[in-house]
Parts: sequence; C-alpha cells; structure tokens
Amino acid sequence: MSSIASSAVNTPNPTANSSEAKRHNSTTATTDNAAFGAGAGINIKRAKVPEGKTFEDYQRVYNEIATKISQHLDYDHGDGYFGQLVRNAWHASATYAVADNSGGSYYGTMIFEPEEFDFQNKGTAIARSFLSSIQVQNPWLSRGDLWTLAGVAGVQECNGPKIKWRPGRLDDNTGTKAAPAGRIPDGEGDARYVRDFFARMGFNDRETVALIGAHVLGRCHTHISGYDGPWGDDSNNFTNDFFERLMGNWHLKNWEGRKQYEDDETNLYMMLPSDMALKEDSNFFKYVQEYAKDVDLWFKDFAAAYSKLLERGIEFPEDNKPLEFKTLHEQAEST
Ligand code: HEM
Repeated sequence: MSSIASSAVNTPNPTANSSEAKRHNSTTATTDNAAFGAGAGINIKRAKVPEGKTFEDYQRVYNEIATKISQHLDYDHGDGYFGQLVRNAWHASATYAVADNSGGSYYGTMIFEPEEFDFQNKGTAIARSFLSSIQVQNPWLSRGDLWTLAGVAGVQECNGPKIKWRPGRLDDNTGTKAAPAGRIPDGEGDARYVRDFFARMGFNDRETVALIGAHVLGRCHTHISGYDGPWGDDSNNFTNDFFERLMGNWHLKNWEGRKQYEDDETNLYMMLPSDMALKEDSNFFKYVQEYAKDVDLWFKDFAAAYSKLLERGIEFPEDNKPLEFKTLHEQAEST
C-alpha cells in the first residue's frame, strides 16, 4: 500500500516523561506561524505523517495496544484499560480553544507543566504508563498520535463504534506549547458551565451530550478526583447504559466526600453533578432521551464527535485520509 502522505518529517523520539523529553528539545518539530507566513492564521498545526508509514503500520500499533488491553481485563474491578485510554485521549485533546486554535492533541504536551499537574489530569498518567512500552517499540510515533490512537482502541475494543482517525501529530519536546491549566472541566459544574466548556472547544449541545456518554466506561476514584464509583454495570462495555441510567431516579449520596449522586434503585452507581446537568437542562435532556432510546444514533453521533475531538485544531493534507481500524475480534474472524 502506498504511503499515507508524501510529506516527510523527522519525528522526534517520543519519550515517556517530561524530564526525558526536555533532554530532546533540540529535535522539536514546530509548525508555528512564522513557518507559514504572517496572515496564514494563528497557532496553525499541520499534520505530517512520518515518511513511508502506511495504514498497516498504524493497524499494527493499534493491534499492540489492543493486545495489551486484552492482557489486563481484570484491571480496576474488571473495568480493564478501556476507560483509562478513552479518558487520556479526551484530556489530551480537551485543552483546545477554538478562539485562538491553541491546545488540543497535536503537540502531546500532557507530560509538561502546567498540564501535567492540573488537578483535572490526575490519574491520566496511568494510561500513559500503560502505553509506554508501545511508545518504546514505535519510536517513530508521536505522543499525540499514540494517545489518540489508544483512545480509538479503547472505544472499539469494548464493542464501541468505529472511530475514524488520522495520523501526523508532532511532538513539542520543550513544553512551550503546553496549554494553560484550567482547560479541563470539573465534575461540580452545572449545565451552563458544561455548555461553556464544550463551546470553547467548538462543540454544540448535541455533541456535548454524545461525548459525555463515554462515562459508561470506567469509574471515579476517591484518590484521583475525590468522587467514587462506576456509572453503571457496563464499565467495560461500550453501550448507551449511561443515558438509560440517567433517565432513572437519583438522590444525593450521603457521605463525607464530594457532592455526587447515587441511584435510587441499587445505591451502587454514581453520577457527577456535571452528568446530572444533562438531565436538568432541557436542551441537553432532549439528547439524553434520544440516546437512551436509540443506541445506533448515539454510536453515530459519538463516533463523529470523538473523532472531531481528537483532531481539534489540526490541518490534515488532502492525501491524509481518515483511517478505520479493524478490531482484534474482526481480524480473528477473517482468518
Ligand atoms: C463535563 C465534562 C466531564 C467531566 C466534568 C468529567 C469528569 C470526570 C471525572 C471526575 C472522572 C473520574 C476520574 C477518576 O476519579 O478517576 C472521569 C472519568 C472518566 N471520564 Fe470524564 N468528564 C467529562 C467528560 C468526559 C468525556 C467527554 C469523556 C470521553 C469522551 C470522558 C471519559 C471519561 C472516562 C472513560 C472516565 C473513566 C476513567 C477511569 O475509569 O479511570 N469524560 N471524568
């Protein structure tokens, strides 16, 4: 198969931690305004695929991630790593601001201050250390590409929809492109807060609700966010359970910890105040109702919004077409 893009780039060696990355700062690839001339726009980030890399190279990395996921299905009460990887890719991308095209997944800056120590990013290092062996095996792959590709594998490997993905993010190994702190939302927010955060990234209400449905996966940890517990019993299975459950009845949890809700039926499951905001706001709620009824609709909307999230702020050349990866299961069935 021919190369994804003809443009060559000398991708710097990705590194697993910031101090190591700082030592490589002389090899940083930059795409700043100066490189493209004044007036071309601000904070331009153009994707460049490492020379000679094809779909097969990325499917191979996908398979390495998926295989590692399959070897740790018991992790965290049986949640596995699906949720961790999906959250890490979201946080890597959620720093994006449409107003000045800053932030986003392109530079792989989550290992640098202030992003590294942003309270909202607590726990995301678990996913990055899970991925470090794959980074070492594939030194040509940038951090931004690795983290977002792992987010795709996290969704697809637990029965989620196909997520279209494009490569070519370039590492900043100096930390100068790190986004300011405070760009990732907090669980205490109300509907207005949630709407404002997602609008900053360029998402409308429909996309916002679709994205937050990823809270079907994984759980909250008191030692990470201060919240506790899973959203339901599909924490390792990508379904519309989050929306179905949100439609039920909830009460404030009676405990010493942060304000969160628990379900009337079992008292086993939780919602954040920012999740409940989707029920309290009538425009958000109409999408909650739709997605609770129609899993195919949610899959379609989630796939489009998540793909958009992972690519915010990046310009892809014409010949860099979206890739769609086969799951391990599909590959096993076709042999
Ligand atoms: C208003 C928006 C959001 C808020 C306030 C929020 C907040 C949180 C919090 C507090 C946790 C618990 C972290 C921990 O204690 O380990 C969490 C976990 C998680 N979030 Fe979000 N989140 C939001 C949106 C999203 C979106 C858009 C996605 C993905 C598209 C996402 C995916 C996840 C996943 C998969 C987990 C579980 C991770 C694990 O199992 O460790 N979240 N989120």
